[in-house]
Amino acid sequence: MRLDRFLAETTPLSRSQAKKALAQGEVTLDGDVVKQAASQVADDARVAWRGERLMLVGLRYVMLHKPAGVECSARRGLYARAVDLIDLPKAERLHPVGRLDVDTTGLVLLSDDGQWAHRVTSPRRGCPKTYRANLGRPLAGEALANAVAAFREGILLDGETTPTRPAELKSLGPQDVRLTIHEGRYHQVRRMFAAIGNHVAALHRETVGPLTLGDLPEGGWRELTEAEVAAF
Ligand code: URA
Repeated sequence: MRLDRFLAETTPLSRSQAKKALAQGEVTLDGDVVKQAASQVADDARVAWRGERLMLVGLRYVMLHKPAGVECSARRGLYARAVDLIDLPKAERLHPVGRLDVDTTGLVLLSDDGQWAHRVTSPRRGCPKTYRANLGRPLAGEALANAVAAFREGILLDGETTPTRPAELKSLGPQDVRLTIHEGRYHQVRRMFAAIGNHVAALHRETVGPLTLGDLPEGGWRELTEAEVAAF
């Protein structure tokens, strides 16, 4: 890897700031001051900036318990972004792996490993995601039985041409349900309930694949274990 890129990956410096730091003699490679941005950094090289040894961070995998009012977006907008809650160096390099709406709470995965993200979200793999929803209207008796059957068979969402994949709906109370889906279409859960004449008042994602939030508090995050990463 080029030295300027190594610096941009391991410090708060941008690539052009890294070039300036190099020109000012702030960087050493294996103990010698190096000024050439194009110098190659070997796997076992020792790089230091202003005397501090730098290490590549590698790929990162994070679980966040997203609060309401936080956006799963890379761009800065009206709301705080999920990455802003992750206290890791270069957190902005992490991307949400499957998004939640701004009002939805619960489990969000973030990573800078694009291939892993693809494995988690690829519709072909059908990774299950479980949501708990509070509905605007009661859903019980025959209406509940009809909804369970409709979601199991798949329904056509407004503006789409292919039905949803089989999904599992369970009643938890007169207006509370648990729904497991195996894909991630835009606003899918809200649109599924709209399609049966109800609406979602509050939505929380409990699981993604085998992962659950456990006792992670709202707003809290942690890195995944190797076994959790390998589970997808
Ligand atoms: N489905 C939705 O409608 N919203 C979410 O945030 C997630 C799934």
